[in-house]
Amino acid sequence: MSQYKGIVLAAGSATRLFPTTLAVNKQLLPIYDKPMIFFSLSVLMLADIRKILIIVREKDKKNFFELLGNGKDLGVDISYAIQKKPKGIADAFKIGKNFIKKDNVALVLGDNIFYGKNLSNLLFNAKKRRIGATIFSFSVKDPERFGVIEIKNKNKVLSIVEKPKKPKSNLAATGLYFYDNRVVDIVKRLKPSKRGELEITDVNTTYLKNEELFVEHLGKGFSWLDTGTSETLLDANNFISTTQKNNKKQIACLEEIALKKKWIKKRNIENRLKKLTKGSYSDYLRKLIKK
Ligand code: G1P
Repeated sequence: MSQYKGIVLAAGSATRLFPTTLAVNKQLLPIYDKPMIFFSLSVLMLADIRKILIIVREKDKKNFFELLGNGKDLGVDISYAIQKKPKGIADAFKIGKNFIKKDNVALVLGDNIFYGKNLSNLLFNAKKRRIGATIFSFSVKDPERFGVIEIKNKNKVLSIVEKPKKPKSNLAATGLYFYDNRVVDIVKRLKPSKRGELEITDVNTTYLKNEELFVEHLGKGFSWLDTGTSETLLDANNFISTTQKNNKKQIACLEEIALKKKWIKKRNIENRLKKLTKGSYSDYLRKLIKK
């Protein structure tokens, strides 16, 4: 049986955060006490996806490698690929073709933060569908900024439209997608949109035409956080800080997830701690291995 692979797209130039992101990649910026990319990586790990490709810009590769390496101490197998130009989200499947091979694949945007109880269940629902595509919806106030999903009878997708002027619902398509292997062929036939990008919404429309587009709802009790502007980035920082303090637990602590899944041993965390000497994140790891 084919396995599931995972891609994190972390290649954008985040112009809306200039000058902050002029020299530093956005996905390496902190969300409270850890780099932003930890959140998207944690989503793949929660879905039991361990073969992961991170797509980055050439100039950022060294930094991502310094942070995550080949993933060994995190119980995953991380490789890297370069996106030379910002050609759109769907370009990830062209870049990742040789990595995906004959397998199914999940894609998560490196700047999306998902938080909520039972997230793992929704991820496994998506993973269980061996055929078709699954997207994840979240109700927002400003749907015109996103891909907008129109549904009938709770789960039947009627349409998905990229940044419509007159949205047919408040349901945004979040930056998380599960596809069967046909996605690799579908992107070959895509044409760039008016904004010059290969649109992920066009990939989803192709599946929809075949009646093979499914949706999982991130409903009540879920948070999906945007980190596109300084304001929403600050909100995300505050949200993670407050939630972690209330729950006395880390969100997106990769070592903790890997340890719970028995992908790593306590000595791998000791290894990580040789690098992560100080700070609240490493204090948490130290407590974790004392338990
Ligand atoms: C992209 C997708 C859009 C999706 C959004 C989620 O938008 O095109 O469908 O709703 O990510 O973050 P972009 O960030 O390229 O404007």
